[in-house]
Amino acid sequence: MAGKAEKALGELVDLCKEIHLLRSCSSLLGWDERTYIPQKGTPHRAEQQSLLAGIVHDKFTSPKIGDLLNEIENSELVDDPLSPAAVNVREIRRLYDKEVKLPKSLVEEISRTVTLSEQAWVEARKKSDFHMFSPWLAKMTELKRQQADAIGYKKERYDALLDDYEPGETAENIKKVFDGLRKELVELVEAIGSSSRRPDISILERNYPVDKQEVVSKTASASIGFDYNGGRLDITTHPFCTTIGPGDVRITTRYNQNHFGQAFFGVLHESGHGLYEQGLDPQYAGLPMGESVSLGIHESQSRMWENFVGRSKPFWIYFFPWVKKVFWESLNDVKLDDFYFAINDVRPSLIRVEADEVTYNLHILLRFEIEHAIFAGDLKTDDVPGVWNENFKRYFGIVPPDDARGCLQDVHWSCGYIGYFPTYTLGNLYAAQFFAKAKEELGNLDEQFSHGSFTDLLSWLREKIHKHGMRYRAPDLVKEVTGKPLSHEYLMSYLKEKYGMLYGI
Ligand code: CO
Repeated sequence: MAGKAEKALGELVDLCKEIHLLRSCSSLLGWDERTYIPQKGTPHRAEQQSLLAGIVHDKFTSPKIGDLLNEIENSELVDDPLSPAAVNVREIRRLYDKEVKLPKSLVEEISRTVTLSEQAWVEARKKSDFHMFSPWLAKMTELKRQQADAIGYKKERYDALLDDYEPGETAENIKKVFDGLRKELVELVEAIGSSSRRPDISILERNYPVDKQEVVSKTASASIGFDYNGGRLDITTHPFCTTIGPGDVRITTRYNQNHFGQAFFGVLHESGHGLYEQGLDPQYAGLPMGESVSLGIHESQSRMWENFVGRSKPFWIYFFPWVKKVFWESLNDVKLDDFYFAINDVRPSLIRVEADEVTYNLHILLRFEIEHAIFAGDLKTDDVPGVWNENFKRYFGIVPPDDARGCLQDVHWSCGYIGYFPTYTLGNLYAAQFFAKAKEELGNLDEQFSHGSFTDLLSWLREKIHKHGMRYRAPDLVKEVTGKPLSHEYLMSYLKEKYGMLYGI
């Protein structure tokens, strides 16, 4: 019996590695498409991608995979649920079931609708008229309902969609944690707003030559541990991090000559994603044990390096003297404290992607509440702008002047990415909880950062999170690493301490 199951496991692993190789070809094509492809090459690229996607789909949904899974699941190979074999089988089963449960006609209809709905969104945003997009959102929601019903769920439909991004998480739990966060966050934003202290952010908007920005960003990202022998940095309009395979993790950024922070913190953010990918165990490449846990856990790594480390005072105690020398013409009259305050400016703003680390989460809470209500049937899509603006006023004290700068600003809903938004704030919450634990276990991290030493924190993350791949689901991982379930308290105490000092509140 055991021999048979072991043979099945070997076959399953081989199949998955082959599928992974095909997928990694598609990742490389995708990277090229977003960086260097000449415009006229796009239609041919779309054909290459669609051919590969079809081959991958056929291979992954073949009944062979189902048979192999059955064979292994009925053996002692999966007795220990945390063993690599059991974890791989658990996660491959999850994905396989989803793929085979979804009717082909529904998959095709969703894919067609995404294209049309995204076009409608682009037009609606241009004209700043939500009602042009509203029927598409209603249609997309209906299709995603059908998807959720086909896949199945325990408590509520929304959970079936959440599973694509944050396996094991539930809307009920997110709601509970976000409810705790909302009240305290709104109070903190109000307190900051009524403080008489304001940083001079104009110092960040001086002349910062792009070639120098590249050197500074790359140096900082290499200092925190991003391995440029196993990765690279290129330029794109929308920054991202992609993994081609072991030893090949690529990040991108965009430079603005008249802004210091956009590229610098963007690179730290993507490097954080990259460090996670570079820390995965290469022997499990192509298998769940060699993959990241979830979008939320991924974002916890990027946010930790971008904000908890990169926007901290100790980080700049180390880097500022050098950065000042590099950009001498723009920074010679700037003091460390003023620079540190400027990069941590907090103010209510309309656009999520430009928000600071305090108000950012309110943007997410708002989106989660709305998409959850639409999906539950409690909110009609036509009523979205009204609810958006009302809640925006309640959270930020301002009302968006139009839909383009309000409920039409993000692409997500038009693509059917329902259940995606909450992972951003989950990332911040996980980052805070992990970081608090790291500080507890590693002693004086501030001291280390101020000397340019980041290795202890990175080794800790490698050991506690990266090397485990998908062994633990996110809610279990946080308990395993910190001893406590996810809570809003760590993020709030971090924010209150940091911004209390900065704003004197
Ligand atoms: Co990110």
